[in-house]
Amino acid sequence: MRSNIKLNGKGITRIIKSKVMLSPLAGVTDNIFRKIVRKWAPDSLLFTEMINASSLKQGFGNMKIKQLELEKGPVGVQIFDNRLFAVSEAAKQAEDYGAYLIDINMGCPVKKIAKKGGGSALIKDRKLAVELVKRVVESVQIPVTVKTRLGWDNKEENIEDLLLRLQNAGASMITLHGRTRKQGFSGKADWDMIGQLKDKLEIPLIANGDIKNPSDAINCLKQTNAAGVMIGRAILGSPWKLGEIDYAIKDIKGFKEPNIEEKLMLIIEHLEELIKDKGDHGLLIARKHISWTCKNFQGATKLREYLVRSNDHREVKELINLMIKTLKKEERILT
Ligand SMILES: Cc1cc2nc3c(=O)[nH]c(=O)nc-3n(C[C@H](O)[C@H](O)[C@H](O)COP(=O)(O)O)c2cc1C
Repeated sequence: MRSNIKLNGKGITRIIKSKVMLSPLAGVTDNIFRKIVRKWAPDSLLFTEMINASSLKQGFGNMKIKQLELEKGPVGVQIFDNRLFAVSEAAKQAEDYGAYLIDINMGCPVKKIAKKGGGSALIKDRKLAVELVKRVVESVQIPVTVKTRLGWDNKEENIEDLLLRLQNAGASMITLHGRTRKQGFSGKADWDMIGQLKDKLEIPLIANGDIKNPSDAINCLKQTNAAGVMIGRAILGSPWKLGEIDYAIKDIKGFKEPNIEEKLMLIIEHLEELIKDKGDHGLLIARKHISWTCKNFQGATKLREYLVRSNDHREVKELINLMIKTLKKEERILT
């Protein structure tokens, strides 16, 4: 148990030290990726991938939160499920492991999850959504938050009613992705509607959707007056992005995006950590990060093609090291 920060529901304001947060991203925001993001964003609240309540009990999910206490800043554990007992038990377990808050997923549009009544299906089953929040709030001492969307099929479903009911049930913060479940990722995130809903709530509302860079974040904060912004897809391949946005929001000058050499060194570090933690399987996970990061520089396409084909992590490292050496040599010639 994280004894020094026993928080009640109101403790959320002590957790939001930065106005920029990392979205829960399935298959991406594991402990190793969070450690890398944290280098540039020490104060930000970072979320785990969504974790099924039962998998926590069975031990598989445990792997996903096993070293939470060692992390150097606030982490929220996101749980998806619609069974009251399973979710509240999972929440207690995450609290024991060192979670700063529990987030309940009420926005995931994936059919397999929504069909079983979890994720975005809770937008329709409001009674159950409220009951879930109440039960989890009773079970843990850390804040309980919700991440959801603007509606199930359309924006005329009075989402305000759901948000107010979640607030009354004890939710400490709500993150709103500015699209409906039906939209998936199509169309544009509706920041106007997020702003209107923000005005109806007393708890902090976090705006999410289509925030790709510092100016998007600043514009979104101005337009919505939200307590913060949450960044999803823009972090893929750019783990420094949260820090870059944090600097801009705080109006601190001089953020330096890593140069190509530094990006390649970051890839090696990420790969090494993944191999240490997950053995050979680590290379499979590293591949997608490598292909997201290896973009927009000379030789990137070739490097990406080769790296994605290789089944040997030592070979991958060798090639990246060779590329770093070549870059250093070119630099020496030019200076
Ligand atoms: C690869 C991927 C995985 C995601 N996984 C989750 C998840 O586990 N839980 C969740 O609430 N949302 C998840 N989302 C949705 C994002 O958290 C976020 O709400 C959405 O991408 C919109 O923000 P963006 O425009 O900044 O990407 C995921 C999105 C992507 C692209």
